Amino acid sequence: MHKYDQVMEAAKYIKSKVDVQAKTAIVLGSGLSGFAEKVEKIAELAYRDIPHFCTSKVEGHKNRLVVGEVQGRQVLVLQGRYHYYEGYSVEEISFPIRVLQFLGVEKLILTNASGAVDRSFVPGDIMLITDHINTVGKNPLIGANDERMGVRFPDLSRLYSERLRSLALKAAASCEITLREGVYVWTSGPMFETPAEIRAYEIMGGSAVGMSTVPEAIVAAHAKMEVLGLSCISNMAAGISQGTLSLEEVFDTMKENEDRFTRLMFEILCDEEMK
Ligand code: HPA
Repeated sequence: MHKYDQVMEAAKYIKSKVDVQAKTAIVLGSGLSGFAEKVEKIAELAYRDIPHFCTSKVEGHKNRLVVGEVQGRQVLVLQGRYHYYEGYSVEEISFPIRVLQFLGVEKLILTNASGAVDRSFVPGDIMLITDHINTVGKNPLIGANDERMGVRFPDLSRLYSERLRSLALKAAASCEITLREGVYVWTSGPMFETPAEIRAYEIMGGSAVGMSTVPEAIVAAHAKMEVLGLSCISNMAAGISQGTLSLEEVFDTMKENEDRFTRLMFEILCDEEMK
């Protein structure tokens, strides 16, 4: 469980630098950081300067909080995230989400790159996350609950907001993007999975597998935020893919599809209901 005083310290630092008005925040996953370059920038804060934030050493993660505007509406963009496989705890990974809660953020868009478990998907597809499976067995809510942050036993039955999902489907239709829908499976990484694990996840009802997002989504649910999850399929998962899995393949696919993803994000953010 996060420490309230540390959360307040980080929130206070951010508020001392920017007049935060945003009700929506976005976490950009691997290969998706270009979106932050397209918003009207108001301010940029390096993670290393924000109290209790960590930094990612993974390629493509810029480690900064971008405060920007989309059609005159302020948004907060976490340009890059740090991961469990880098050695950070689930509390550390999800700390920025807790800070967003106390900055007044109500809607959170979580994005990531993932490998397709569903054999009908193809690299480049964008999957709307309908639910998740936590195979890591860790979560950031363990420990004494602080009622100022949320309830002891949060309900995750509607974690990925149906309202935001239908809004995303509408936005995708208007930019002629077909969205897939499915269940995101969180694995620790840093290794890609074994083919047997992928077959098991398929039987369990998983659609795509990745190394992030779930701890953040859990904290967002505890914080009573509305969550939208968008997963960009960068490769077919182990055993389904005929080739050798690599970070290069992930980045190559993400780069090829970044423009489409950015267009979709803008269309979603411009919706009146995202106000
Ligand atoms: N497995 C886990 N994480 C991933 C993958 C994958 O195949 N692709 C992108 N992130």
